[in-house]
Amino acid sequence: MKIGVLTSGGDAPGMNAAIRAVVRRGISLGATVYGIRRGYEGLIDGDMFPMSVDSVGDTIHRGGTILHTARSDRFMLPEGQDLAAARIRGAGLSGLVVIGGDGSLRGMVELCKRGVKAIGIPGTIDNDIAYTDYTIGFDTAVNTGVEAVNRLRDTATSHERVFVVETMGRHEGHLALAVGVAGGAESILVPELPVNIDEVCEKLKRGLDRGKVHSIIVVAEGAASGFEVARQIEACLGMELRVTVLGHVQRGGTPTAFDRLLASRMGAKAVDLLASGQSNLMVGVSGPRLIATPTPEVLAVRKALDMDLFNLAQDLAR
Ligand code: F6P
Repeated sequence: MKIGVLTSGGDAPGMNAAIRAVVRRGISLGATVYGIRRGYEGLIDGDMFPMSVDSVGDTIHRGGTILHTARSDRFMLPEGQDLAAARIRGAGLSGLVVIGGDGSLRGMVELCKRGVKAIGIPGTIDNDIAYTDYTIGFDTAVNTGVEAVNRLRDTATSHERVFVVETMGRHEGHLALAVGVAGGAESILVPELPVNIDEVCEKLKRGLDRGKVHSIIVVAEGAASGFEVARQIEACLGMELRVTVLGHVQRGGTPTAFDRLLASRMGAKAVDLLASGQSNLMVGVSGPRLIATPTPEVLAVRKALDMDLFNLAQDLAR
């Protein structure tokens, strides 16, 4: 067996742990594992190299991806996908492991249509992929966000200020919601629900009436710009706010133990699935168990926001 592994799209902490698991489980099963650099970009260019047991040593605790990643415009076109599939055949790879978010998984499905055998592993800080409770990198990003909120809370309390904290999440609010609940935010704004600044102001006013002058508002980048939210609150409350955009800070850093465990288990499972002749599946986690779901089915469903958690946040944040 000769298999390839690549990381694609936005990087996520824990991707290295997944690569390590793919390489070492592959070698345990007698396979040669090829690392493909810069995701689908590198695949189109045939940029791949055999990985040894040692090549993934000392990587489990490192953020980012040792294979590098890219958002490949060439691979968006059918000609690029044809070329990528031809590269896999040319290199004699009998299977491919794709680690990435929804765009990467969509790319994998295109390769499978061209006869490639591939298994996907969900890796994105957004946790916006169905048929898995968690994606690799989400837990680390949540902890990074909460750490930032903790620090901002100190200065917000000292200066009696309201802070708006903008998290990543272009289309989904899972990250903002988790950061908001764990950080004790007074309001959380997510792309899945209408942004109601009047409601946020009402809540802040109720707090002010009780003598509470410091607050944290968490907003997902896809819901509204943090600066715009602050401007609107300033207009209705007549007070100055401060804004922190967490941005790519959330994508870096050493992965949490949770992400390392998840990535290790998913990486090994992906290789086992390829070894048993399976293809076009995505590995996911459901409670304590790993599961595998046909990737087109995964991509057909939008992961719902946890409304119980959202409603709990409304109730607890006062
Ligand atoms: O999909 C992961 C993610 O970090 C999103 O939360 C964010 O909107 C996007 O990637 C940013 O992408 P880029 O690094 O290409 O600017």
